[in-house]
Order: sequence, then structure tokens, then C-alpha cells
Amino acid sequence: MKQRSIFLVMLNSSVILAVFVIFLVLLNAPIRFLFTASPENAFKVDEALATSGTRFSLLIGVLTRPNNYDRRHFLRLVYGIQSSPVAEVQVKFVFCSVTNPEQKIFLALEILRFNDIIILNCTENMNFGKTYTYFSSLPDILPRRFDYVMKADDDVYIRLAQLVSSLQPLPRQDLYYGFVLPCPSMNPHEGYMSGMGFALSWDLVEWIASSEIPKHDTFGPEDKLVGRWLNKGKKARNRFTSKPAMYDYPGTNGRCSHELVPDTVAVHRLKRWDRWLRVLEFFNVTKELNHSKLYNL
Ligand SMILES: *[C@@H]1O[C@H](CO)[C@@H](O)[C@H](O)[C@H]1NC(C)=O
Ligand SMILES: *[C@@H]1O[C@H](CO)[C@@H](O)[C@H](O)[C@H]1NC(C)=O
Ligand SMILES: *[C@@H]1O[C@H](CO)[C@@H](O)[C@H](O)[C@H]1NC(C)=O
Repeated sequence: MKQRSIFLVMLNSSVILAVFVIFLVLLNAPIRFLFTASPENAFKVDEALATSGTRFSLLIGVLTRPNNYDRRHFLRLVYGIQSSPVAEVQVKFVFCSVTNPEQKIFLALEILRFNDIIILNCTENMNFGKTYTYFSSLPDILPRRFDYVMKADDDVYIRLAQLVSSLQPLPRQDLYYGFVLPCPSMNPHEGYMSGMGFALSWDLVEWIASSEIPKHDTFGPEDKLVGRWLNKGKKARNRFTSKPAMYDYPGTNGRCSHELVPDTVAVHRLKRWDRWLRVLEFFNVTKELNHSKLYNL
């Protein structure tokens, strides 16, 4: 009898402990994006995400050039301070093979510090094939799958929480998401998604890697090609255009541009600092900063 009640007390306290642990884990969400200094940290964040009911994962590959150091550091800041409780988002910088010995050392330093670079087996300056190499290499080179993979330009500002909320209700399969071209079109089933930033579900990434269709059609404007492959393969039955939440910076590209709006997912054509500044101001990006004796901004 006595033994039984001791057993019950122990059972009760382990339930309380379990509830307490779950509570602590929930307290930890939302979780910062995976801009971590070391792989150990990345692992911890991954684990926390796995236990906090992450609903989907997204890899954003920013296609850029190896020598765009300043832009890359700036984008690390821009994405490193964003977070979303709904999805795990990893941002990586993607470019082709590097041969310059100095560049190799600088890039090795960046990788040691940030571990956010993917170097593909292709030749930079080649204005075709990089997008194909990107998508088709991923299933083989990534240590894991993602629900969605995005290709983004380095002159686009993506608001991760807004992007995640717009992807959240969409299918995880056979999905082609972005900003449909031509500019005035609202029909994602015609035309193709702009290279500013479009996402594919993982099954489509695997299809690109294995199908003969993209393999033999890699010459031409990269974003247009992706639409053509999917059409030829009768793929991407689910298509979604994120207009008017994605657009070109005001006044830069006819009907692809409009004024900045609060519900923005992405603004493109940020090729100059004055445009970045206006965007950061409009979205109150630095307003969170607290007063401190250490600085007076
Ligand atoms: C890189 O691509 C070239 C040309 O397609 C190929 O010959 C070579 O084997 C590839 N290298 C690796 C490491 O995959
Ligand atoms: C930025 O902050 C201002 C002042 O608090 C507010 O009126 C505005 O709606 C905010 N803008 C956005 C895009 O959230
Ligand atoms: C600002 O202060 C608040 C309240 O102390 C804190 O919750 C928040 O994390 C701080 N923000 C930053 C960016 O440090």
C-alpha cells in the first residue's frame, strides 16, 4: 500500500516536471533565425524548433557574387534581426566556384564565422544555368530537406514574418510562389515568377534535380526558365502570386512598382543605399532599439 502511494507521488511529480519543461520550451518561442556564430548554436536552435511545433521550414538562397562582401554583411544584419514563431527560416548566400586564392581565404573566414554560404559547382559570369545548378544541387548537398526553397536576389528586402504568414496556409506540395510576371498580371497560372524572390516546394526542387526537362533547357532569363520547365513538366498545380505584397521599389519599374505598403512581403530593386534607408525607415526596422547609456542614437 505504502509502496503504491510513493509510486503515485513519483508519477505525479514527473508529470509536473514534464509540464514545466514543456512550458519552458514554449516560453522560448519565438525563436531567432539561424544566424549563429557556431554550428553548436545552430543545433540548439534546431532542437528547440523541433519541440516547439514548427509548422514548416524554408531555405532562402540569396544568389550573389563572391566579391559582394558589403552587401552580404548588410543582408546578414537585415535578416539576422528578424524572427517568426511559425517557421524555421535559414538564409544562405549562394554563388559559383571561387578560384581567386585571396577570395578563398576571405570566404573561408566568413564561413567559419557565419556558416551561411553555399558554393555551387558552376562558373560565375556565365549568365545562364546558375538557378538550375542551385535547385538541382540542393537535394544532394544539403544535409536535410526543407518544405520550401526560395531563390532571392541580393537587391530585395524580404520581411520574413510576412513571407512566412503568406506561405503558412498554402500547400506544402507542388507549389510555385512569388511575384508573377508580366507586371500587371494577377494570374499565377500564366507567365512565371520574378527572380526577385520565388519559392518552390521541396518536391519541385527534387523534380528539377531529376527531370530531363530542366537539364536541357538552361539558356535564357533564369526566372522565365523555371516557369517554362514547370509548364513543360505539367508541374506546380499550386501557384500563388503575392501581389500586391511583393513589388519593385516605387518608380523603378513601371507597373511592377508601387508605393511602399504596410503589409509588404518583399521590395525589390534596392540597388542604392537611399532606397534601403527609406525602406528600413518605412518599416520601422530600427525602432525597437532601447535607450541606453552606451549609445545615443
Ligand atoms: C563540376 O562540374 C563540372 C562540369 O559540369 C564537372 O565536370 C565536375 O566533375 C564537377 N565537379 C564536382 C566536384 O562535382
Ligand atoms: C511605423 O511606426 C509609425 C509610428 O509608430 C506607425 O504609424 C506606422 O504604421 C509604422 N509602420 C509600419 C509599416 O508598421
Ligand atoms: C528593450 O527593452 C525591453 C524591455 O526591457 C526588452 O524586452 C527588449 O528585449 C529590449 N529590446 C532590445 C532590442 O534589446
